[in-house]
Amino acid sequence: MNAIAALPKAELHCHIEGSAPPDLVRRLARRNGIDLPDSLFADGTRFAWKDFISFLAAYDAACDAMRRPEDYRDVIYDYLGRCAREGAIYVEVFSSPEHVEDVGMDYAAQLEGLAAGIDAAEAECGIVGRIIPICLRHRGPERALAVARTMLAAPHPYVVGFGMAGDELRYAPADFAPAFRLVADAGYPCTAHAGEVAGPQSVRATLDALPVSRIGHGVRASEDPRLLDEIARRGVVLEVCPGSNIALGVYRNLASHPLRRLIDAGCKVTLNSDDPPYFDTSIGREYATAGHAFGLTPRQLLDITETAVAAAFVDRDTRRRLTARIAGHAASV
Ligand code: ADE
Ligand code: ZN
Repeated sequence: MNAIAALPKAELHCHIEGSAPPDLVRRLARRNGIDLPDSLFADGTRFAWKDFISFLAAYDAACDAMRRPEDYRDVIYDYLGRCAREGAIYVEVFSSPEHVEDVGMDYAAQLEGLAAGIDAAEAECGIVGRIIPICLRHRGPERALAVARTMLAAPHPYVVGFGMAGDELRYAPADFAPAFRLVADAGYPCTAHAGEVAGPQSVRATLDALPVSRIGHGVRASEDPRLLDEIARRGVVLEVCPGSNIALGVYRNLASHPLRRLIDAGCKVTLNSDDPPYFDTSIGREYATAGHAFGLTPRQLLDITETAVAAAFVDRDTRRRLTARIAGHAASV
C-alpha cells in the first residue's frame, strides 16, 4: 500500500444524504415505492446537475428516496465502510432534519437509523462516526430556528454540533444568529458554510455574526489577506473540499485552488469530500490529490488528520482514542 493510502484520515465535512451513490439512491427509492425523476441521472452511473443551484436540486431529489430509519442506517453504514477502507478513522457527517421533515419523517427516527449505522460500522471497521444536524440557509432563519429547537429537544450522544449549508447567496449570516445562539448557549460547537460560492465578505460576515469555530469551505477567504491573518490568528478551522470546489466551478482547476496558500498563511485546514458521488471524489481521493497535486508530504497529510481530530466536535475520551491511533502511525511516516 502506498504511504498516502495507508495514512489514518479524518473527515469533518460530508453531507450524509449527499454520500449515497446513484445505485443506492435507486435501491432505496425502489424499496420505498418512490418514482425518482429520470432527470436525476445523467446516465447509469452519475447524478445529473450542471451548476450549484441544479446540484442543490439534484440533492433534494435524491433525498426524496430516503424515507425510513433503515434507509439512513444503510446510507451511513455504506459510507463509513467505504471511508474505513480508505483509511478513515473518524467521520463527522452533516444530517439535514429539513429534508427528513419534507418526507414526513421525524428527526428522532432519522437519528435512530444513523446511530444504528454508526454502531454497525464501528463494530465492523473500527471507524468512529458522529452527526452534525444542519439548517439550510436558503430556507430562511425561521426554519433554521426550528431545526435548532428540534435538535435541542431530542439530544443524542452522537449529535455533537450544529451547522448551516445551502445557498450562501440567500439571506445574511446574522439572520441565523438566533438559531446558532440557541445551540451554542446549550453547549454545542458550530460550523457554517461560507466562502464557497460567495467571496471573502461572506466568511467575514459569518465570523462576525455566528459562534462558529469552523467554516465549511472558507476557501475564498484566500482573496483577502487580512481575513486570512485573522483566521490563522483565531485558529478558525477551514473544512476544505477541493474536489467539490473544482466540480462546482469555484475554481477552474487544482492549479488555481488556494489550498496551499491557506496552509502557507498559517490557517488550519482539513480535507473533505462534501458530497462524494456528485463530485466524483472520496476522502481517500482528497488526501491523494493533496499529496500529488498540491505536493503535501505524508507527514503534512498526517498533520491534517491531527488538525481534524483536534477540531472535531467529538467528546474528549473519543478524541484521545483517535489521537492515540494517529500517534501510533506517526512513527512510521
Ligand atoms: N449542501 C450539500 N453540499 C453543499 C455545498 N457544497 N454547499 C452548500 N450546501 C451544500
Ligand atoms: Zn458542504
